[in-house]
Amino acid sequence: MLDESATSVAVGHPLDPPSFDEVEKGARLAKKKLGEKAAFCTVRLKEPSKDLLRKFKTGQSFERVLRFDGFDHPDVDQLDGGFDATVNLSTGEVSIDRITKGHAPIGFTDYVSAVTITKADKGWLEAMRKRGIEDVTHVQLDPWPAGGYQHSSIPRDHRANRVIAFVRETATDNGYAHPVQGLIAHVDLTDGRVAHLEDHGVVPIPKEHGRYENHDFDTLQKEPNELQITQPNGPGFTVEGHQIRWQNWCFRVSVHPVNGLVLHELSYEEEGTIRPILHRAALSDMVVPYGDTDPMHRWKHVLDAGEASIGNCVNSLTLGCDCLGEIHYLDHVCVKPDGTARLVERAICIHEEDYGVLWKHHNGHSKNTEVRRSRRLVVSTFHTVGNYEYGFYWYLYLDGTIQMEVKLTGIVGVSAVEDGEERPEFAPLVAPNVASPIHQHLFCFRLDFELDGPENAVYEINTEAEPISEENPDGTAFSARETLLKTELSARRNTDPSKARTWKVVNHKSMNRLGKPVAYRLSPHSAPRLFAREASQVAKRAGFAKHNLWVTPYKESELCAAGDYPHLSEGDGIAHWTDADRSVENTDVVVWHTCGVTHLPRPEDWPVMPVEYTGFTLHPVGFFGRNPAIDLPGHNH
Ligand code: CO
Repeated sequence: MLDESATSVAVGHPLDPPSFDEVEKGARLAKKKLGEKAAFCTVRLKEPSKDLLRKFKTGQSFERVLRFDGFDHPDVDQLDGGFDATVNLSTGEVSIDRITKGHAPIGFTDYVSAVTITKADKGWLEAMRKRGIEDVTHVQLDPWPAGGYQHSSIPRDHRANRVIAFVRETATDNGYAHPVQGLIAHVDLTDGRVAHLEDHGVVPIPKEHGRYENHDFDTLQKEPNELQITQPNGPGFTVEGHQIRWQNWCFRVSVHPVNGLVLHELSYEEEGTIRPILHRAALSDMVVPYGDTDPMHRWKHVLDAGEASIGNCVNSLTLGCDCLGEIHYLDHVCVKPDGTARLVERAICIHEEDYGVLWKHHNGHSKNTEVRRSRRLVVSTFHTVGNYEYGFYWYLYLDGTIQMEVKLTGIVGVSAVEDGEERPEFAPLVAPNVASPIHQHLFCFRLDFELDGPENAVYEINTEAEPISEENPDGTAFSARETLLKTELSARRNTDPSKARTWKVVNHKSMNRLGKPVAYRLSPHSAPRLFAREASQVAKRAGFAKHNLWVTPYKESELCAAGDYPHLSEGDGIAHWTDADRSVENTDVVVWHTCGVTHLPRPEDWPVMPVEYTGFTLHPVGFFGRNPAIDLPGHNH
């Protein structure tokens, strides 16, 4: 089942993402004020205030305000980080803020310029000749963010990146199998030149190809038998604009340039009452720090969301490949550098999945067995950021559980190494003469809770062994104790599996039938933290990765954990905001959870790595009075 096109869906709710026509209209209005040289990076909806959303009734008119960012160098006298234009589509009003902290994110314009500039540079061509590459037609160039420290020969207010090279034998070859070792071009994009060429010496280019399409293999293994997933009566969810209803769940969905896939206004209906759970839930930013001391890698720590606009990298999905079953898709609209709109068809995938057994019991006395199947609603997107792919999957279950699963796949970063020269502690071999550096993928999710209302509080729960005492003579006792996290500094917390540590969001004013505050628990899965030292640039720029938990009082401007403009920035975001140590007790709290993987590459990750998973689960803890799926119809009733 394919949705014709989101462009045909009229904007009917203040949270609906910008439509194709709105993006083009907004960009035209912004350009009138910015001039023709403005190059757009991203567009997003300026999300309406919570107050407006709470009062909103279907059919009411509302203002539509979009935010565009980008850069207009070098035509401005005073160089800065670019523009942040707010366009009110309802009134035609445009206001321009200049970005003074950091730069507008890396965009298509930067990539094209960086490649063109590097391929025309005499020094770089000479360095390639030294490596036996005369014809650079098929050489693939990957521009990387310069981090918070572009080369010293590039002025700090210039846009810059670092360009590394891979050799493709043909136009469609997998270049990552043939990395050009030791060579980095530091490109000053503002001046349009290679400002510095870093050359650490020639290492032979690995020879084995890394192609992975079916026609690249002489024989293929047996294909698994056909599997069809059909719902003869259609799917059990309904989609109205960007609002989705399934069983007792209701929410809205959109794609944001930095936050990617966003759930809005997630609620659960119980006995006719709509019970809010999350006002907004999404990635806030992420970072991929490399641990290798190799000068090709040790500066790498891309913030794929904030620097590279992961939302702009959203894939158009294919039925039967990306998604299986009765699928409903929603499109997404981005802005192109020139201000025209780009439609990504089938960007958000919505479907139901059977998930095995939900609950079961065999009554030994009556010989009766009751069993219910678990079903989950899946809302997902996939994003390609350079060599890597990230899938974001929200799952809603019949028992009130909410889960985020990140799927990591794609091609690992690589180095060329000579025979016997590998340093497995930093970069194990994945193929002959190809080593892949150790690295992390750390995702910070922003969970704006609204459990039965905005006033929530957060507890930490630790389970520990009790001392031996009169009550505990055999030393068998252990207990779970709760600690209220009162302020931002005391709420900077880390996981501790030895204490089965979890965190619990509660509403002290909403009691369940046992007289206890309703709650949801954040159960961490794999949740490493940043290994890089405190003094490192990555620790300053991606401070969110230093702790697994942060709690802040809601503030409209605090959506992105590394700040709005981390590109070429020295650091901003949650690690700075929380220095204020604001109170987070019985207020509109926002919970930030950093999870991820520490990736020690293995031969099986080559040439394309099988999906690796991370994420977290939110379990209701007394949010309901009993198992909310106990009354689910069975099949033998
Ligand atoms: Co990885």
